[in-house]
Amino acid sequence: MSTIVVTGTDTDVGKTVFAAGLARAIGASYWKPVQAGTDDGTDPMRVARLSGLPPERILPEAYALATPCSPHRAAAIDGVTIDLDRLALPQVDGPLVVEGAGGVLVPIVGTTTFADLFARWGMPVVLVARTALGTINHSLLSIEALRARGVAVRGIAFVGESVPDSEATIVRLGDVKRLGRLPILDPLDADTLAVSFADHFDTRDFL
Ligand SMILES: Nc1ncnc2c1ncn2[C@@H]1O[C@H](COP(=O)(O)OP(=O)(O)OP(=O)(O)O)[C@@H](O)[C@H]1O
Ligand SMILES: [Mg+2]
Repeated sequence: MSTIVVTGTDTDVGKTVFAAGLARAIGASYWKPVQAGTDDGTDPMRVARLSGLPPERILPEAYALATPCSPHRAAAIDGVTIDLDRLALPQVDGPLVVEGAGGVLVPIVGTTTFADLFARWGMPVVLVARTALGTINHSLLSIEALRARGVAVRGIAFVGESVPDSEATIVRLGDVKRLGRLPILDPLDADTLAVSFADHFDTRDFL
């Protein structure tokens, strides 16, 4: 069954919101292997709220670390040693949406970054990118870093207001497929997200 790995150009770009929209649209399960920061809620909790998926389709994190910072540091602060073998992809019935933490070169343990973990999994990734100023550089750098590690980029999903030139420039210079763009939603809830996701993405790109 298909596994869709969702990564991003940075922290806070909208990976969780996109992952929630995608998981609902394709009837997937959701997994966040490493959650860093638990006091203000977690990404699995936000996905549960924004997708309306039943609780059994939201898989428990392999590591839920208290401190909201890079996982390698959060683990050190919590006194936890991250074992990469515990970050193997879980087996589920049906599609699985997996969300990384932060951007592609965020360290997990030692010299291993999320991009290296994606390479171990051998799964293509969806790159979530802002449309806001700075996105061309961040997107092209992320695409290069992924490909340098042998990770295929399934496509790029933009989040934000329409900036056609930036999107087209990334697609052209990065030689990457544009999957769609999620506008800024107000209000943002499970209903508005489901409608907007259906309007702006084609589920056939993910299955
Ligand atoms: N399409 C959108 N419409 C409205 N708000 C959004 C949208 N996408 C993201 N946001 C808001 O932006 C913030 C960051 O989004 P999100 O949590 O999805 O980022 P992230 O990339 O998953 O961050 P992290 O690296 O912490 O996992 C959140 O407050 C979220 O509600
Ligand atoms: Mg997130």
